[in-house]
Parts: sequence; structure tokens; C-alpha cells
Amino acid sequence: MSTVAPGPRGHVIFGSLPNLRQDPAGFLRESQAGFGDVARFSFGTKVAHLVSSPSGIRHVLQTNAKNYTKNTPGIQKLKAILGEGLLTSDGEFWLRQRRIAQPAFHRERLKAFGDLIDRHTQALCCRWRGSAEAGAPVDAHREMMALTLTIVGEALFGSDVAADAPTVAHALDEILLVQDARFTRAVPIPTWLPISENRRFDAAKAALDDVCWRMIEGRRGKTSGRSDLLSMLMEARDPETGQGMSDKQLRDEVITLFVSGHETTANALTYALYLLGTHEGEHASLAAAADKAFPKGIQCLEVFHWAPVERVVNEAMRLYPPAWLFARSPIADDVVDGFSIPKDSFVFISAWVVHRKPALWPRADAFEPSRFDGPAPDRFAYFPFGGGARQCIGSNFAEMEMHAIVARIVQQFCWQSTGGTPTIDPKVTLRPKGVVPLSLTLRAAPPQ
Ligand code: HEM
Repeated sequence: MSTVAPGPRGHVIFGSLPNLRQDPAGFLRESQAGFGDVARFSFGTKVAHLVSSPSGIRHVLQTNAKNYTKNTPGIQKLKAILGEGLLTSDGEFWLRQRRIAQPAFHRERLKAFGDLIDRHTQALCCRWRGSAEAGAPVDAHREMMALTLTIVGEALFGSDVAADAPTVAHALDEILLVQDARFTRAVPIPTWLPISENRRFDAAKAALDDVCWRMIEGRRGKTSGRSDLLSMLMEARDPETGQGMSDKQLRDEVITLFVSGHETTANALTYALYLLGTHEGEHASLAAAADKAFPKGIQCLEVFHWAPVERVVNEAMRLYPPAWLFARSPIADDVVDGFSIPKDSFVFISAWVVHRKPALWPRADAFEPSRFDGPAPDRFAYFPFGGGARQCIGSNFAEMEMHAIVARIVQQFCWQSTGGTPTIDPKVTLRPKGVVPLSLTLRAAPPQ
């Protein structure tokens, strides 16, 4: 027996669309609190359910994942830039691409990136030393965006991309900006209209494509002995068919990795730094643990999954999950936790809602890294990287990077977050609105 799930009544014509547009994060949290773990909304003629129980999420992402596609308006919009990359494709095509790309993201292979993460993080620390001495605050979000872009750029292309870095940074900024505007607009503006937004998007996409094509072209026949992701993807073969990727597939995957690997990681790092800057005790205990464990300084590969830093990063992503909302569409009628889910509707899964559910997380809004010291939470009560077959392919990369960056910065600096609680800006990712100022001081004789 299944029943229709309860949910907000919404506007007579637009349903819950106005609420979702006005304050998506607040509205979804209130809906779960008010209507339970399967809450039903309408958007004009469309129906959506927010599923927030670990059992329901497991059902959608894992047990009955075959019934759920990523064919949603949000993903269709992302295709304008990502094409048919891993994040946006579905079915057999996706499976084949995932099989080919997966080995490039194995932990052992990722270790090749330890040095570059250390090098760029140390360069940032050297600059921050100047800011600390001058008493000039730094903007954590801006700094983390630049750092993660440099790291993912070099991981993808090797050092060849250095000369193109400003072009890539500008193009990605433009793309994220336009993508966000398109994402949240109720009535889409046709992308062929020659308005400024579309022109900017097209120019940025062309600039990014140009860099990607040049990199692919330049790498042809020269991949052996190289450890960058592009070379790995160019050499990779489907273990079942022996086939590699076409140039178009390579382009789509490379841009997908750029876009998915850059802002998500930067947002998580920004919130981790902000939270440490408002919780002096947590900063002090992490710094003391780092001094004890690594008296000669932090090396990326040593701190990957090092518990004192891992729990801080986990807790930051619990409170502020960068991939805060994702959606699926069922291809056949289904039942989730006893409620009927009609085919061709939408299912929303929000880490932002679930990670702050009081029934799952005592003192849900508080920053308490020690909660990760105990037994691991249910796999689908904490899922910053998603779950099931579509879970993030870059999670090891992101964690290795975040653990190293946070540990190194903490060992070298103390800081206060002087800008108050950052307002969240939930769009494609959950990010802070405006600057996130940190007022730095050097720790006494920090290791280099
Ligand atoms: C803190 C950083 C990151 C977070 C929170 C994050 C989160 C996620 C989540 C939740 C998904 C699943 C979305 C869904 O099920 O609809 C995903 C997918 C994906 N992520 Fe990440 N990600 C991060 C970093 C990265 C990095 C560093 C890369 C690559 C370098 C990356 C590449 C991808 C790709 C390619 C997919 C699609 C996988 C597939 O469907 O096969 N991500 N990510």
C-alpha cells in the first residue's frame, strides 16, 4: 500500500516554485521539518518529492538506482557547458565512460598529485605570511577558489597549462556566473538570443574549449610516462571492450572535471577555514596535534585521512555540503518509504537538509568535529559526495587536497573570521555570498 506524501499547498498555479526560488535552502529544510522524510511539492504541472530518510535515499541512489535518471532540468542546463561528461550523462554511455575514467582516480594513482598540492599550498602560505605581517585580512573564498583552480588545472594538464591559467580562471568565473543565473531562473531565456549573458557564456565556453582542444592535441602521442589526468584519460581503455575515448568525450570529461573539481572543493575549504576561525579551541587542538605528529611540517600524503584534520573537514561538509542538492527523475512509478513516487516526476535529495536533521544529528547546527570520532554515521545520513554508482569520482582527490590544505594552513597560522556568519548562496553549489575575511596571525615558529 502506498499513499500520497504530504507537503506544502503552494501557489494555486505555480505551486512551490516561488518558495523554492526565494529561499531554497530554508524552504527545503522547513518542508522536511513540517511534512516529514518524504515531502511532496508541485511546480505547475510537475510533481517533486524531497526524500530525507537514509532508507529512502539508499533506495533512490543505490537499491533501485536503475529506476532513476539524471534527466532533470538542472542537468539539461549543465549540459550547455559540460556536454555528455560523467556528471551529466546517463545509462550505458555513462557506465562506459565511468569504467574508462575510474582507474585514473584510484588512490594510488592520485598520490602522484601530492607534490603539486604541497607546492601550491606552500606558495599560498608564503603570500599569507605577508598578509599576516601587514595585518591585512585575506578573503578565504577568493583564495580557495584560486588555489583549487590551480591545483585541479595542473592535475588535469600538468604544468603546460600555466600560461593559460588566467584565461581559464576568467572563463570559469563567467561560466559559473551565467550557469547560476540560468539555473535559478523560472522562465528560461533562450540561449540563442544575442543578449549580453548569452554572449558572455559563449565567449567563455569558446575560450575554455580552445585551451582543452590545444591540450588534447598537444598531448597526442606524448602521454607515456606522464601522470596528469588528461594523459591518464587518453591512455585509458574500457576494460570490457578495449576502446578509448573520442576527442569529443575527452573534451567533455576534462571540462566536467574542471567544473566539478574546482568550486566544490573551494567552498568546503572556505567553510572549514571560516569555522576554525570562529572556534578557537578546535583550531588550537588541531594545530597542537599537527605539531606533535608532524614537527617538521605537513606533507600531503601523510595527512590524507589523518583523523584530526579529517573530522574537521567532515564536519565542515556536514554543515555546509557543497553539493547541497541533487535530483533524479523516476522512469517508472515507485514507492519510497511507503509513499508513491510517480514516473517522470522529480526526486530531490538534499545533503543540506539531511546533514542538519536533528533526529540524525544531535545539536545539528553546531560545529562539533568530535562527532566524527565515534562510529561512522549511516552511509546515507552523511553523503557529501553522494552515494551509489553515481557517487563522486573525485572524492579521494578532493579529500586528499582538503586534508593537506587545512592541516598546512592550521599549522602555520591562527586566524579570526571577522566577517560574521557568511550568508549562504545555494545555487548549483552551496557557497558563501560575498567575502569571507580571515584576520591572520603567524603561529610561533611554524614549520615550513
Ligand atoms: C569537496 C569537493 C566535492 C564534493 C562535495 C563533490 C560532490 C559530488 C557529488 C555529491 C556528486 C554526485 C552528484 C549526484 O549524484 O547527482 C559528485 C559527482 C561527481 N564529481 Fe564530485 N565533488 C567534489 C569534488 C570533486 C572533484 C575534485 C572532482 C574531480 C576532479 C569531482 C568530479 C565529479 C564527477 C566527474 C562527478 C560525476 C560522477 C558520475 O556521475 O559518475 N568532484 N560530486
